[in-house]
Amino acid sequence: MADTASAAGGRATQAQEGLTTSVGPSVEPQASAPGAPAVDPAAEGDGQQGFETSASEGGPVDENLDVASWDSQSDGGDSAYEELIFAGHWENGRRYHSYQSGQYLFPDDEQEQDRLDVKYAAIHLTFGNKLNFAPLQDPQHALDVGTGTGIWAIDFAEENPGCTVSAVDLSPIQPTWVPPNVKFEIDDCEQDWTWPENHFDYVHIRTMAAAIRNWNRLFQQAFRHTKPGGYIELQEMDYMGVIQSTSRNPGTSFIRWCEEQGKAAAKVGINLRSIPSVMVENLRQAGFVDIQLHEFRCPIGPWAAEKKMRDAGILQLSAVLDGLEGLTLKLSKFYEGWTKEELDVLLAKLRTELRSRDCHAYWPVIAVYGKKPE
Ligand SMILES: C[S@@+](CC[C@H](N)C(=O)[O-])C[C@H]1O[C@@H](n2cnc3c(N)ncnc32)[C@H](O)[C@@H]1O
Repeated sequence: MADTASAAGGRATQAQEGLTTSVGPSVEPQASAPGAPAVDPAAEGDGQQGFETSASEGGPVDENLDVASWDSQSDGGDSAYEELIFAGHWENGRRYHSYQSGQYLFPDDEQEQDRLDVKYAAIHLTFGNKLNFAPLQDPQHALDVGTGTGIWAIDFAEENPGCTVSAVDLSPIQPTWVPPNVKFEIDDCEQDWTWPENHFDYVHIRTMAAAIRNWNRLFQQAFRHTKPGGYIELQEMDYMGVIQSTSRNPGTSFIRWCEEQGKAAAKVGINLRSIPSVMVENLRQAGFVDIQLHEFRCPIGPWAAEKKMRDAGILQLSAVLDGLEGLTLKLSKFYEGWTKEELDVLLAKLRTELRSRDCHAYWPVIAVYGKKPE
């Protein structure tokens, strides 16, 4: 397991920080009430492979719906807009976020939330149970960008009770019973940030490769809103998996799937790769200094020799297998020249491969942090 140290937004809860979006969210509700199972358009599918994305991506924009807020300390659900946000919208049996509908390609339903939490546990083990690598000293304000189920933000808040942790996401999928120093907010981190400048001691971004369209802009905003002497940290998984040289199984289908996912994502303006040198350079260009990179391998499957990594591999395998449908559904629409049957065969073979102890597949994982000059 390599662990080599080398040199190498969001807007806010509406009232306090002022979420001022110029683009009204495209909300396309298909449910009548928060949490309702709503309409499952799978029943009316067009028979095509993958998801019908046009509706969600080009859906109607309701100009009246310009503010999103999800305050974990409130009882929530007191406005029609919140109801729409909480309902999400459904496609092919999976639920997706309503706020900025179509922005993110993966579901946000319980199945996906389980995947996120299991993946979190796998990465946590891979990181030796560290929540951060940046040498933080008594942080007062932290931001978790794209918090998902909020699991990292909650753990970080517990570990740093004196720190106020703001955590933003497009989806309101965070729990309500959380430490008092965590605040969840619904927001799009790729819009203009309206927090005070020089505010955060620490900005944390984890596994957002499939989400961010403009990393440079994100880093520039993070730089502006980080205190002098504060840190940004990226904890990213490279979605281009690798088959280790010890593998007796070539993992052909897994590699093929990774490649197809990458090509499909590129067509919708997303680069799934997290290349360490690129991330380091992007941070440097944004103005961060003293950049440190830690590189890891998170096994997929129970093949690693070390017990801790075997456990991480079992978790990661479960996350991949459970997540496969959600990760593939929308992107498969952009696979070039594939029939539904061919895709099904690929995914079936991939599942068999990854379950085999002979297949030594892993995700490259990095933690890279940089400091805003004092
Ligand atoms: C792969 S998940 C990572 C979640 C969490 N950071 C973790 O590591 O478990 C990506 C998350 O980013 C959120 N997301 C995607 N695009 C976003 C955006 N533009 N602004 C805020 N959140 C976004 C998604 O809703 C999803 O919860």
